[in-house]
Amino acid sequence: MKQTIVYTIQDLQDPQIKQHLHDTIHRGGLVVFPTETVYGIGGNALDKLASKRIYEVKGRPSDNPLIVHIGSIDELPKYVLQIPLVSLKLMESFWPGPLTMIFEKNDVVPLETTGGLSTIAIRYPSSPVALDFIRIAKVPIAAPSANISGKPSSTEFKHVFQDLNGLVDVMIDGGPSTIGLESTVLDVTTPIPTVLRPGSVTKEMIETCLGTFVQDASEQSSIDAPKSPGMKYTHYKPSGNVMILYGNRQAVQAHVQAYMKDNPLIKTALICATDDESFYKDMLLRPLGYRNQPSQIAKQVFSALREMDEWNVQMIFIHAFSTEDIGFAIMNRLLKAAGYHIMHL
Ligand code: TXA
Ligand code: MG
Repeated sequence: MKQTIVYTIQDLQDPQIKQHLHDTIHRGGLVVFPTETVYGIGGNALDKLASKRIYEVKGRPSDNPLIVHIGSIDELPKYVLQIPLVSLKLMESFWPGPLTMIFEKNDVVPLETTGGLSTIAIRYPSSPVALDFIRIAKVPIAAPSANISGKPSSTEFKHVFQDLNGLVDVMIDGGPSTIGLESTVLDVTTPIPTVLRPGSVTKEMIETCLGTFVQDASEQSSIDAPKSPGMKYTHYKPSGNVMILYGNRQAVQAHVQAYMKDNPLIKTALICATDDESFYKDMLLRPLGYRNQPSQIAKQVFSALREMDEWNVQMIFIHAFSTEDIGFAIMNRLLKAAGYHIMHL
């Protein structure tokens, strides 16, 4: 175990602390930092040993590539072979922000950072703290979500701390994440741009910006050659079993109560919309937010999954949410957490 130093947002104004952050990254150290989506574990993307350490700390398979974070658009040409026209339009609309794009990489970026791929995922985040940190580091920052591989991503500092204290050099506490779901990953190297992971920048938003059709490969079978290596691994899994229920709230109530009657010793909970909180009787509930405020629901997804472990819940039912707009990304994460176990009532 090493000593992890925790800094606050205010600390980043201190010249000595800036120097320490800079030196930590240039020595190959790891810094957990907040972004507008989720927290990340950052290391120097140009240092293959730093990338190797990220994989070790996360317990992540080394063929699952890291996203490289930059602090300004000017940095992009330093790491990619080509900048497709479509990506220029998207940058104008969505950068800085929660859209990651896949480009052909050049030789400056080591294969260790891209999981052995000849492509590179680049993200220019909008979070001022993330940008401060990347600019202090003065190198591109490779950063996966700050969680142990397979566990829910971290959207609150206490969750990052639980997973990674003693495993990284520094952590920056930036409070809760504003979006709460990881960035949209879009491949712009294919003739038709392809969504590899849905996020708050939706396929429809990308299509409107480009005026063309965009493919969605995010629900592609995890077995046949996934385009994004991350798609083939178990994700966001709490310790308990998870099942998504499709149906109206009367049917959900009847199903959960029947389950609890048949399995009195199994601690059971229902993740639901706040609209239905007062309807459900005699069961442990975790409301995520009102249906007409899906961005509030998005913010709660990962914290709720982690709370299920904190509460030692063994059977987690989730009443399915709408897949409209950001709802598509919300359900993508919940379906993964459930290992695609669903039931139509
Ligand atoms: O919002 C986010 O994107 C957060 C914050 C920290 O920026 N990062 C994040 O990283 O979610 P990570 O490593 O947990 O997820 C990266 C995803 C994985 O599914 C990975 O397979 C995919 O992006 N990816 C990265 N490089 C890729 C590449 N060259 N080709 C295809 N997919 C790639
Ligand atoms: Mg992740």
